Amino acid sequence: MSDFYEKLREYAAYTDSGLDVILPKRDNYQKEIYEAMRYSLLGGGKRIRPVLLFVTAELFGLDVETVKPFALALEMIHTSSLIHDDLPAMDNDDYRRGRLSCHKRFDEATAILAGDALLTYAFEVAADGASGLITKAVVSGNTELARNASKIVGLLASRVGTEGMIGGQVIDLKAEDTAIDEYEHDTLCRLKTGCLLTIPSEISGLIAGRTDTPEYGLAVDYSKSIGLAFQIQDDILDVEGDPNLLGKNIGMDDVDNKTTFVTLYGIDGAKHKLEELTAKAVADCRALMELSSCNKESAQFMLDLAEFLLERKY
Ligand code: IPE
Ligand code: IPE
Ligand code: MG
Ligand code: MG
Ligand code: MG
Repeated sequence: MSDFYEKLREYAAYTDSGLDVILPKRDNYQKEIYEAMRYSLLGGGKRIRPVLLFVTAELFGLDVETVKPFALALEMIHTSSLIHDDLPAMDNDDYRRGRLSCHKRFDEATAILAGDALLTYAFEVAADGASGLITKAVVSGNTELARNASKIVGLLASRVGTEGMIGGQVIDLKAEDTAIDEYEHDTLCRLKTGCLLTIPSEISGLIAGRTDTPEYGLAVDYSKSIGLAFQIQDDILDVEGDPNLLGKNIGMDDVDNKTTFVTLYGIDGAKHKLEELTAKAVADCRALMELSSCNKESAQFMLDLAEFLLERKY
Protein backbone atom coordinates (compact mmCIF):
# COMPACT_ATOMS: atom_id res chain seq x y z
CA MET A 1 0.00 0.00 0.00
CA SER A 2 2.97 2.40 0.50
CA ASP A 3 3.55 2.28 -3.28
CA PHE A 4 -0.08 3.27 -3.66
CA TYR A 5 0.23 6.36 -1.46
CA GLU A 6 3.41 7.40 -3.21
CA LYS A 7 1.78 7.09 -6.62
CA LEU A 8 -1.35 8.90 -5.41
CA ARG A 9 0.81 11.80 -4.20
CA GLU A 10 2.72 11.78 -7.49
CA TYR A 11 -0.44 12.00 -9.60
CA ALA A 12 -1.85 14.76 -7.34
CA ALA A 13 1.40 16.74 -7.42
CA TYR A 14 1.50 16.42 -11.22
CA THR A 15 -2.04 17.85 -11.30
CA ASP A 16 -1.21 20.69 -8.89
CA SER A 17 1.86 21.81 -10.80
CA GLY A 18 -0.03 21.62 -14.10
CA LEU A 19 -2.86 23.75 -12.74
CA ASP A 20 -0.45 26.30 -11.31
CA VAL A 21 1.14 26.69 -14.75
CA ILE A 22 -2.03 26.97 -16.82
CA LEU A 23 -3.70 29.40 -14.45
CA PRO A 24 -1.01 31.96 -13.55
CA LYS A 25 -1.55 35.08 -11.47
CA ARG A 26 -2.36 38.11 -13.58
CA ASP A 27 -1.87 41.77 -12.93
CA ASN A 28 -4.52 43.31 -15.15
CA TYR A 29 -7.76 45.22 -14.53
CA GLN A 30 -9.67 41.98 -13.83
CA LYS A 31 -6.99 40.41 -11.63
CA GLU A 32 -9.52 39.65 -8.82
CA ILE A 33 -11.08 36.88 -10.88
CA TYR A 34 -7.71 35.14 -11.27
CA GLU A 35 -7.19 35.43 -7.54
CA ALA A 36 -10.57 33.81 -6.79
CA MET A 37 -10.03 31.04 -9.36
CA ARG A 38 -6.59 30.23 -8.00
CA TYR A 39 -7.83 30.42 -4.40
CA SER A 40 -10.39 27.67 -5.00
CA LEU A 41 -8.45 25.61 -7.50
CA LEU A 42 -5.08 25.48 -5.77
CA GLY A 43 -6.30 25.32 -2.20
CA GLY A 44 -6.24 21.58 -1.58
CA GLY A 45 -8.55 18.89 -2.91
CA LYS A 46 -7.87 15.19 -3.39
CA ARG A 47 -7.57 15.42 -7.19
CA ILE A 48 -9.39 12.09 -7.53
CA ARG A 49 -10.76 12.82 -11.01
CA PRO A 50 -7.35 13.62 -12.55
CA VAL A 51 -5.92 10.59 -10.71
CA LEU A 52 -8.55 8.40 -12.36
CA LEU A 53 -7.72 9.84 -15.74
CA PHE A 54 -3.99 9.28 -15.32
CA VAL A 55 -4.36 5.74 -14.05
CA THR A 56 -6.86 4.62 -16.71
CA ALA A 57 -4.61 6.17 -19.38
CA GLU A 58 -1.71 4.07 -18.10
CA LEU A 59 -3.99 1.04 -17.82
CA PHE A 60 -4.59 1.35 -21.58
CA GLY A 61 -0.92 1.90 -22.42
CA LEU A 62 -0.94 5.70 -22.78
CA ASP A 63 1.37 8.06 -20.94
CA VAL A 64 0.07 10.60 -18.47
CA GLU A 65 1.21 13.55 -20.57
CA THR A 66 -1.21 12.56 -23.35
CA VAL A 67 -4.23 13.02 -21.09
CA LYS A 68 -2.88 15.92 -19.00
CA PRO A 69 -4.94 18.75 -20.59
CA PHE A 70 -8.13 16.77 -19.99
CA ALA A 71 -7.12 15.99 -16.39
CA LEU A 72 -6.55 19.68 -15.68
CA ALA A 73 -9.82 20.58 -17.40
CA LEU A 74 -11.68 18.02 -15.32
CA GLU A 75 -10.31 19.35 -12.04
CA MET A 76 -11.29 22.88 -13.07
CA ILE A 77 -14.81 21.69 -13.91
CA HIS A 78 -15.05 19.90 -10.57
CA THR A 79 -13.79 22.96 -8.65
CA SER A 80 -16.28 25.15 -10.50
CA SER A 81 -19.06 22.78 -9.40
CA LEU A 82 -17.87 23.03 -5.77
CA ILE A 83 -17.76 26.85 -5.81
CA HIS A 84 -21.33 26.97 -7.08
CA ASP A 85 -22.45 24.10 -4.81
CA ASP A 86 -21.37 26.14 -1.76
CA LEU A 87 -23.28 29.29 -2.71
CA PRO A 88 -26.14 30.41 -0.43
CA ALA A 89 -28.61 29.66 -3.23
CA MET A 90 -27.42 26.04 -3.26
CA ASP A 91 -25.93 24.31 -0.17
CA ASN A 92 -24.89 27.49 1.65
CA ASP A 93 -21.56 26.17 2.95
CA ASP A 94 -18.95 28.43 4.50
CA TYR A 95 -15.97 26.05 4.39
CA ARG A 96 -14.35 24.08 1.62
CA ARG A 97 -10.99 22.35 1.38
CA GLY A 98 -10.01 23.55 4.84
CA ARG A 99 -10.74 27.23 4.33
CA LEU A 100 -13.49 29.71 3.66
CA SER A 101 -15.54 28.86 0.59
CA CYS A 102 -15.08 31.15 -2.40
CA HIS A 103 -18.15 33.35 -1.77
CA LYS A 104 -17.11 33.80 1.88
CA ARG A 105 -13.51 34.67 1.11
CA PHE A 106 -14.52 36.99 -1.76
CA ASP A 107 -18.22 37.67 -2.36
CA GLU A 108 -21.12 35.95 -4.08
CA ALA A 109 -20.78 37.74 -7.40
CA THR A 110 -17.07 36.89 -7.57
CA ALA A 111 -17.79 33.26 -6.68
CA ILE A 112 -20.42 32.96 -9.43
CA LEU A 113 -18.02 34.45 -11.95
CA ALA A 114 -15.03 32.39 -10.72
CA GLY A 115 -17.09 29.20 -11.15
CA ASP A 116 -18.15 30.28 -14.64
CA ALA A 117 -14.60 31.27 -15.53
CA LEU A 118 -13.15 27.93 -14.38
CA LEU A 119 -15.80 26.06 -16.35
CA THR A 120 -15.23 27.97 -19.57
CA TYR A 121 -11.45 27.93 -19.20
CA ALA A 122 -11.65 24.16 -18.69
CA PHE A 123 -13.27 23.81 -22.11
CA GLU A 124 -10.61 26.04 -23.67
CA VAL A 125 -7.91 23.79 -22.21
CA ALA A 126 -9.74 20.62 -23.28
CA ALA A 127 -10.29 21.97 -26.81
CA ASP A 128 -6.56 22.76 -27.07
CA GLY A 129 -5.78 19.25 -25.87
CA ALA A 130 -8.11 17.75 -28.46
CA SER A 131 -6.68 19.83 -31.28
CA GLY A 132 -3.16 18.73 -30.27
CA LEU A 133 -4.26 15.11 -30.50
CA ILE A 134 -5.93 15.70 -33.88
CA THR A 135 -2.74 17.26 -35.25
CA LYS A 136 -0.76 14.25 -34.03
CA ALA A 137 -3.32 11.90 -35.57
CA VAL A 138 -3.25 13.67 -38.93
CA VAL A 139 0.56 13.60 -39.04
CA SER A 140 0.65 9.89 -38.25
CA GLY A 141 -2.38 9.04 -40.43
CA ASN A 142 -4.30 7.68 -37.44
CA THR A 143 -7.85 8.46 -38.53
CA GLU A 144 -9.43 6.65 -35.59
CA LEU A 145 -7.55 8.88 -33.13
CA ALA A 146 -8.61 11.99 -35.08
CA ARG A 147 -12.24 10.85 -34.95
CA ASN A 148 -12.11 9.94 -31.26
CA ALA A 149 -10.23 13.07 -30.19
CA SER A 150 -12.88 15.20 -31.85
CA LYS A 151 -15.52 13.50 -29.68
CA ILE A 152 -13.88 14.24 -26.32
CA VAL A 153 -14.91 17.88 -25.81
CA GLY A 154 -18.56 17.17 -26.68
CA LEU A 155 -18.62 14.14 -24.39
CA LEU A 156 -17.10 16.17 -21.56
CA ALA A 157 -19.78 18.85 -22.05
CA SER A 158 -22.55 16.29 -21.95
CA ARG A 159 -21.21 14.73 -18.72
CA VAL A 160 -21.27 18.20 -17.15
CA GLY A 161 -24.63 19.37 -18.53
CA THR A 162 -28.31 18.72 -17.97
CA GLU A 163 -27.91 14.96 -18.47
CA GLY A 164 -24.79 15.00 -16.29
CA MET A 165 -23.49 16.80 -13.19
CA ILE A 166 -25.81 19.81 -13.56
CA GLY A 167 -28.84 17.56 -14.03
CA GLY A 168 -27.89 15.80 -10.79
CA GLN A 169 -27.55 19.08 -8.93
CA VAL A 170 -31.03 20.07 -10.11
CA ILE A 171 -32.56 16.87 -8.70
CA ASP A 172 -30.49 17.33 -5.51
CA LEU A 173 -31.97 20.78 -4.93
CA LYS A 174 -35.49 19.65 -5.76
CA ALA A 175 -35.12 16.82 -3.23
CA GLU A 176 -34.60 19.33 -0.40
CA ASP A 177 -38.31 19.98 -0.13
CA THR A 178 -39.85 17.20 -2.21
CA ALA A 179 -39.62 13.54 -1.28
CA ILE A 180 -37.87 11.45 -3.93
CA ASP A 181 -37.73 7.67 -4.05
CA GLU A 182 -34.59 5.55 -4.14
CA TYR A 183 -34.62 5.27 -7.95
CA GLU A 184 -34.67 9.02 -8.45
CA HIS A 185 -32.00 9.38 -5.75
CA ASP A 186 -29.85 6.81 -7.54
CA THR A 187 -30.13 8.87 -10.74
CA LEU A 188 -29.33 12.04 -8.78
CA CYS A 189 -26.04 10.55 -7.52
CA ARG A 190 -25.04 8.89 -10.77
CA LEU A 191 -25.42 12.28 -12.42
CA LYS A 192 -24.14 14.79 -9.85
CA THR A 193 -21.10 12.76 -8.77
CA GLY A 194 -20.86 9.67 -10.98
CA CYS A 195 -20.54 11.45 -14.31
CA LEU A 196 -17.34 13.32 -13.45
CA LEU A 197 -15.82 10.14 -12.01
CA THR A 198 -16.69 8.03 -15.07
CA ILE A 199 -15.53 10.45 -17.76
CA PRO A 200 -11.82 9.67 -17.07
CA SER A 201 -12.28 6.06 -18.24
CA GLU A 202 -14.27 7.27 -21.23
CA ILE A 203 -11.60 9.78 -22.27
CA SER A 204 -8.77 7.27 -21.83
CA GLY A 205 -10.72 4.67 -23.82
CA LEU A 206 -11.30 7.10 -26.68
CA ILE A 207 -7.67 8.26 -26.88
CA ALA A 208 -6.35 4.70 -26.67
CA GLY A 209 -8.90 3.53 -29.28
CA ARG A 210 -10.14 0.83 -26.91
CA THR A 211 -13.82 1.66 -26.47
CA ASP A 212 -14.93 -1.69 -27.89
CA THR A 213 -12.70 -3.84 -25.70
CA PRO A 214 -13.46 -5.82 -22.52
CA GLU A 215 -10.99 -3.69 -20.53
CA TYR A 216 -12.94 -0.57 -21.44
CA GLY A 217 -16.19 -2.12 -20.20
CA LEU A 218 -14.51 -3.12 -16.94
CA ALA A 219 -12.92 0.31 -16.41
CA VAL A 220 -16.24 2.06 -17.00
CA ASP A 221 -18.09 -0.34 -14.66
CA TYR A 222 -15.40 0.20 -12.03
CA SER A 223 -15.78 3.98 -12.35
CA LYS A 224 -19.55 3.79 -12.04
CA SER A 225 -19.24 1.73 -8.86
CA ILE A 226 -16.70 4.00 -7.23
CA GLY A 227 -18.64 7.05 -8.43
CA LEU A 228 -21.68 5.97 -6.46
CA ALA A 229 -19.57 4.73 -3.55
CA PHE A 230 -17.88 8.13 -3.46
CA GLN A 231 -21.17 9.93 -2.85
CA ILE A 232 -22.24 7.37 -0.24
CA GLN A 233 -19.01 8.02 1.67
CA ASP A 234 -19.52 11.78 1.28
CA ASP A 235 -23.01 11.43 2.79
CA ILE A 236 -21.70 9.24 5.65
CA LEU A 237 -18.86 11.67 6.38
CA ASP A 238 -21.38 14.52 6.53
CA VAL A 239 -22.87 12.66 9.52
CA GLU A 240 -19.89 11.17 11.30
CA GLY A 241 -16.78 12.72 9.75
CA ASP A 242 -14.25 15.00 11.44
CA PRO A 243 -14.65 18.53 10.04
CA ASN A 244 -10.95 19.22 10.63
CA LEU A 245 -9.95 16.31 8.41
CA LEU A 246 -12.75 16.88 5.89
CA GLY A 247 -12.04 20.59 5.50
CA LYS A 248 -15.78 21.31 5.44
CA ASN A 249 -18.55 21.47 8.02
CA ILE A 250 -20.54 18.36 8.86
CA GLY A 251 -24.28 18.09 9.45
CA MET A 252 -25.02 20.35 6.52
CA ASP A 253 -27.16 17.79 4.67
CA ASP A 254 -29.47 17.72 7.68
CA VAL A 255 -29.57 21.53 7.85
CA ASP A 256 -30.46 21.65 4.15
CA ASN A 257 -33.01 18.83 4.52
CA LYS A 258 -31.26 16.80 1.79
CA THR A 259 -32.28 13.33 0.67
CA THR A 260 -29.06 11.31 1.05
CA PHE A 261 -27.96 7.69 1.24
CA VAL A 262 -28.10 8.08 5.02
CA THR A 263 -31.67 9.44 5.12
CA LEU A 264 -32.84 6.72 2.71
CA TYR A 265 -31.00 3.66 4.08
CA GLY A 266 -29.74 4.65 7.55
CA ILE A 267 -26.05 4.86 8.42
CA ASP A 268 -25.61 1.06 8.51
CA GLY A 269 -27.54 0.58 5.28
CA ALA A 270 -25.40 3.24 3.59
CA LYS A 271 -22.20 1.57 4.84
CA HIS A 272 -23.41 -1.78 3.57
CA LYS A 273 -24.04 -0.32 0.11
CA LEU A 274 -20.62 1.33 0.16
CA GLU A 275 -18.97 -2.02 0.93
CA GLU A 276 -20.97 -3.80 -1.80
CA LEU A 277 -20.00 -1.25 -4.44
CA THR A 278 -16.36 -1.33 -3.35
CA ALA A 279 -16.36 -5.14 -3.63
CA LYS A 280 -17.77 -4.82 -7.16
CA ALA A 281 -15.09 -2.30 -8.09
CA VAL A 282 -12.37 -4.57 -6.64
CA ALA A 283 -13.73 -7.51 -8.67
CA ASP A 284 -13.51 -5.39 -11.84
CA CYS A 285 -9.86 -4.63 -11.02
CA ARG A 286 -9.09 -8.32 -10.52
CA ALA A 287 -10.65 -9.05 -13.92
CA LEU A 288 -8.54 -6.25 -15.45
CA MET A 289 -5.41 -7.87 -14.00
CA GLU A 290 -6.21 -11.07 -15.88
CA LEU A 291 -6.16 -9.29 -19.23
CA SER A 292 -2.78 -9.27 -20.95
CA SER A 293 -3.78 -6.10 -22.81
CA CYS A 294 -3.79 -4.09 -19.56
CA ASN A 295 -1.07 -2.61 -17.39
CA LYS A 296 -1.28 -4.72 -14.22
CA GLU A 297 0.26 -2.07 -11.96
CA SER A 298 -2.46 0.36 -12.99
CA ALA A 299 -5.16 -2.22 -12.28
CA GLN A 300 -3.58 -2.80 -8.85
CA PHE A 301 -3.55 0.95 -8.20
CA MET A 302 -7.24 1.13 -9.14
CA LEU A 303 -7.97 -1.67 -6.69
CA ASP A 304 -6.04 0.11 -3.92
CA LEU A 305 -7.85 3.34 -4.79
CA ALA A 306 -11.26 1.67 -4.35
CA GLU A 307 -10.15 0.45 -0.89
CA PHE A 308 -8.67 3.84 -0.03
CA LEU A 309 -12.00 5.50 -0.89
CA LEU A 310 -13.82 2.98 1.31
CA GLU A 311 -11.70 4.02 4.29
CA ARG A 312 -11.25 7.69 3.50
CA LYS A 313 -11.79 10.26 6.26
CA TYR A 314 -11.48 13.31 4.00
C1 IPE B 1 -16.76 16.63 -3.13
O1 IPE B 1 -15.81 16.10 -3.99
C2 IPE B 1 -18.07 16.73 -3.82
C3 IPE B 1 -18.62 15.45 -4.23
C4 IPE B 1 -18.78 15.16 -5.47
C5 IPE B 1 -19.06 14.49 -3.24
P1 IPE B 1 -14.37 15.68 -3.47
O2 IPE B 1 -14.50 14.90 -2.19
O3 IPE B 1 -13.62 15.01 -4.58
O4 IPE B 1 -13.70 17.09 -3.13
P2 IPE B 1 -12.19 17.54 -3.19
O5 IPE B 1 -11.88 17.80 -4.63
O6 IPE B 1 -11.33 16.46 -2.61
O7 IPE B 1 -12.16 18.81 -2.38
C1 IPE C 1 -21.72 17.91 -4.51
O1 IPE C 1 -22.37 17.07 -3.64
C2 IPE C 1 -21.74 17.42 -5.88
C3 IPE C 1 -21.22 18.44 -6.81
C4 IPE C 1 -20.56 19.49 -6.46
C5 IPE C 1 -21.52 18.24 -8.18
P1 IPE C 1 -22.39 17.60 -2.15
O2 IPE C 1 -23.12 18.87 -2.04
O3 IPE C 1 -22.81 16.48 -1.26
O4 IPE C 1 -20.83 17.86 -1.91
P2 IPE C 1 -20.22 18.52 -0.60
O5 IPE C 1 -20.65 17.65 0.55
O6 IPE C 1 -20.77 19.91 -0.51
O7 IPE C 1 -18.74 18.46 -0.82
MG1 MG D 1 -24.68 19.81 -3.05
MG1 MG E 1 -22.58 20.63 -0.92
MG1 MG F 1 -21.99 16.21 0.69
